[in-house]
Amino acid sequence: MKSNKNIVLIGMMGSGKSSIGKILSRKLNLTFVDIDQKIEESEDSKISEIFTKYGEDYFRKIEEKISLKFLSSENSVISLGGGGFINTSIRKMCKKNCLSFWLDWKNETIIKRIYKSKKRPLAINLTKGQINNLLKERSKVYSLSNYRIICDKLDKVEIINKITEIYEYK
Ligand code: S3P
Repeated sequence: MKSNKNIVLIGMMGSGKSSIGKILSRKLNLTFVDIDQKIEESEDSKISEIFTKYGEDYFRKIEEKISLKFLSSENSVISLGGGGFINTSIRKMCKKNCLSFWLDWKNETIIKRIYKSKKRPLAINLTKGQINNLLKERSKVYSLSNYRIICDKLDKVEIINKITEIYEYK
């Protein structure tokens, strides 16, 4: 039986939540919501500008407000920011109203993708070792999601098919 719960994609920066979410939403005929994009629209600023101008705490407050709003909807594929699931209120709402999928990649894969990335204010000043530590810490929390998709040996289509199978038979 098909669920009308949201699908929420979680995982580190660079795990492909947005690009996979977009294709998945089309395949399942669900609405796609990219939380980072919604934050940028509501603040009329790029995420990196929000971090520079107002700092991380301010960003996290807006992230919580916007994430809770969209997570409480229905029939959506939601791409959460990499730090979203770390927030207890956001995590509770995910548990209540969504099926959560952790896009899990090897640490080296993520480090390669985000090291020194200008688009990612949280990663730009981190060494590879610091990104690795952040990944270790966050993975403990990401593992509280409903499903873990081990992505390294899969291509995009295979990742999407796995999520679809789980969602459609839930
Ligand atoms: C962040 C991840 C980013 C964005 C912000 C903070 C994080 O989203 O929300 O830069 O704390 O991991 P993506 O995971 O979509 O890159």
